[in-house]
Amino acid sequence: MELATTTNLPSSDLDAFWMPFTANRQFKASPRLLVAAEGMYYTTSDGRQIIDGTAGLWCVNAGHGRREIADAVQKQVMQLDFAPTFQMGHPAPFELATRLVELLPGDLNRVFFTNSGSESVDTALKIAIAYHRLKGQGARQRLIGRERGYHGVNFGGTAVGGTGANRKLFGNIVTGIDHLSHTHNLEHNAFTRGQPKWGEHLANELDRLVTLHDASTIAAVIVEPVAGSTGVLLPPVGYLQKLRQICDKHGILLIFDEVITGFGRLGKPFAADYFGVIPDIITVAKGITNATVPMGAVFVREEIYQTFVQGIENGIEFFHGYTYSGHPVACAASLATLDIYKKEGLLTRVSEIADYWENAVHSLRGLPHVIDLRNLGLVGAIELESIPGKPGARGYETFVKCYQQGALVRAAGDNIALSPPLIIEKQHIDELFGVVTDVLKQLA
Ligand SMILES: Cc1ncc(COP(=O)(O)O)c(C=O)c1O
Repeated sequence: MELATTTNLPSSDLDAFWMPFTANRQFKASPRLLVAAEGMYYTTSDGRQIIDGTAGLWCVNAGHGRREIADAVQKQVMQLDFAPTFQMGHPAPFELATRLVELLPGDLNRVFFTNSGSESVDTALKIAIAYHRLKGQGARQRLIGRERGYHGVNFGGTAVGGTGANRKLFGNIVTGIDHLSHTHNLEHNAFTRGQPKWGEHLANELDRLVTLHDASTIAAVIVEPVAGSTGVLLPPVGYLQKLRQICDKHGILLIFDEVITGFGRLGKPFAADYFGVIPDIITVAKGITNATVPMGAVFVREEIYQTFVQGIENGIEFFHGYTYSGHPVACAASLATLDIYKKEGLLTRVSEIADYWENAVHSLRGLPHVIDLRNLGLVGAIELESIPGKPGARGYETFVKCYQQGALVRAAGDNIALSPPLIIEKQHIDELFGVVTDVLKQLA
C-alpha cells in the first residue's frame, strides 16, 4: 500500500476539508498528517514513528491495527452490511447489548445504541426528561451540567457543557440549564497524586441549585467522573458520592458521561466501578469499538427502561433513534473489541501500571512553567503557566514540539493531557515522558 505523504498530497488538496476543532488556516499552512498506525505508534507522512500518548483521542484503548477487529468487520460487511433496527432487528446488537451489560455495575442493564459520544449524551438527556414525564413529573425539565465539562457538540451536550468557547457562538441554544462549579483548584490541590482531598464540599452546590430552582423542575445532573477534554480535572475524594446522595434526596437522575473513562481507562471497566458510585445513566463511545467504527451507547437502570416500556400501552415507547443505532459493522467491531479486552485483561490492566505512570507524571515537577501535575488511572495532565495575554499558546507549542520530536499529546488550553492506549508498557511510558521532558526544557 502506498502511503500518502505531504509530498504527494498537494497543499491545494487540503482546502476542501473543513477540519473539526482545528485552527484550519494554521494547520493547512503547516500540516501534521498521520498515515498509518500499529500498536503504540503512529507513522507520520514524513515517515517517522511517533508514540501515541493519547490513544488517538482517548479512544484506541487496545492499541492500533488490531487484526481481530479488522477481520470481524470484513466478515460482517460481507454477511450483512446493513439492516434497520426500527421495527426490525438483526442479531448483532442483541448479542452486543447482552455482552456489554455484563460489564456494567448495578442494574444498568439496558442499552440504547448511538454513533458517537455526542449522540449518547443527547440521547441520555432526552431519556431523563421523558422519564420524569412518564412518571407524572413533566415539570422536571431542567438539566444541570458543570463548568469545564465537555459533553460533545450536539445541542443538549453543548448546553450542559461548561466550556465558554464551545458555547459562545450559539447563544442560549437550549434553555433551562444550570451549572455546578468545576472542581479544579490549584491553590489547594496542585501536584496532588491521584484524587485530590480538598473539594468534596463543592458537590453541595447541587443543593444550592435545588433551593434556587426547586427539585420539581430538575431532571438530571450530568458530569464526567473525570473531566478529560478540558484538561483532566479530577473529582475530589467524596465528591461523586455526595452528588449521588443529593440526587437521591431530590429524585434527580445522575448521569455519568463515561465517553473517555469507560472501558478500562482508570483500571476498572467503568469509572462508576472505580469510584464506587452507581449513576442512573452512563454514556459511552470511543473505546466501545476501539475507535475502529463510530459507535456510542447509553446504559440505563432497569427501572428507567421499565418506566418507558410499561408506561406506554402499546406502540413505540421512545420516539428516538438513529438510522445506524446498532449498525451491524459497529456491533461486529465492538464484539471483537470486547473479546480483546477480555483476553488481554485490558479493562483492569491499568491498575498494574498506574503507580509507574503516576511516578512518570510527577517526575516532571520542577520543569520550566509546570504549575500542576495530575494523574489517575492511565490519565495524566501537565498544567503549564500561561503566557500573559496568550492563553493556550504554551500548550499549543508543547503539542507541536512533541509531535515533531516523537510523541502525540493533546493540548487543552495550557494543559497537556495524556491518555495512551491501555496496552502501554513501561518502556513506552519512559519513551513518552522522555520526549515530553525534552520538550518542556526547550520551552521559552
Ligand atoms: C466526556 C465526553 N463526552 C462526549 C464526547 C463527545 O464524543 P464524540 O466526539 O464521539 O461525539 C467526548 C469527546 O471527547 C467526551 O470526552
